[in-house]
Amino acid sequence: MTETLPPLEQLTLRMIAMPRDTNPGGDIFGGWLISLMDLAGGTVAIHHSNGRVVLAAIDRMSFLRPVFVGDEVSCYAHIIKTGTTSMQVSVEAWVRRPKDGDTHKVTEGHFTFVAIDDVRKPRKFQKH
Ligand SMILES: CC(C)(COP(=O)(O)OP(=O)(O)OC[C@H]1O[C@@H](n2cnc3c(N)ncnc32)[C@H](O)[C@@H]1OP(=O)(O)O)[C@@H](O)C(=O)NCCC(=O)NCCS
Repeated sequence: MTETLPPLEQLTLRMIAMPRDTNPGGDIFGGWLISLMDLAGGTVAIHHSNGRVVLAAIDRMSFLRPVFVGDEVSCYAHIIKTGTTSMQVSVEAWVRRPKDGDTHKVTEGHFTFVAIDDVRKPRKFQKH
């Protein structure tokens, strides 16, 4: 079943897709979307672990629909699994099209962050 509504309580980041974020074909770069998702997931991981994190892996990344200039892009993120020093964060990006206000899920992926200390070694964090 197609999802038509995003999970509002997990809203982490919102941006407008700009002309500078396009490829030569005029569509928004996938890499730009991944960087937004990285920021959104990283924000959740920083809050969860109370400190610095690095991105270790991206799994199950899917691009479901295109993003166009002027679309409002919202990232929704929540923790799905925690280990000793790592956290797996589910991140979805949704767009709201300015012309008609329609909303669509455009990407989804699982981002693994590792909490690190001052010398970049994996750091244990308290489980919430
Ligand atoms: C991520 C990093 C800190 C892991 O360091 P490491 O010494 O290999 O750590 P370990 O093998 O002890 O693993 C630490 C944790 O990370 C997890 N992990 C490490 N690599 C992983 C991977 N590729 N995918 C999923 N989890 C991973 C381990 O499962 C472990 O989790 P746990 O403590 O919850 O059980 C290190 O590889 C690193 O600094 N990578 C570069 C990160 C970076 O620069 N990111 C930005 C990229 S643009």
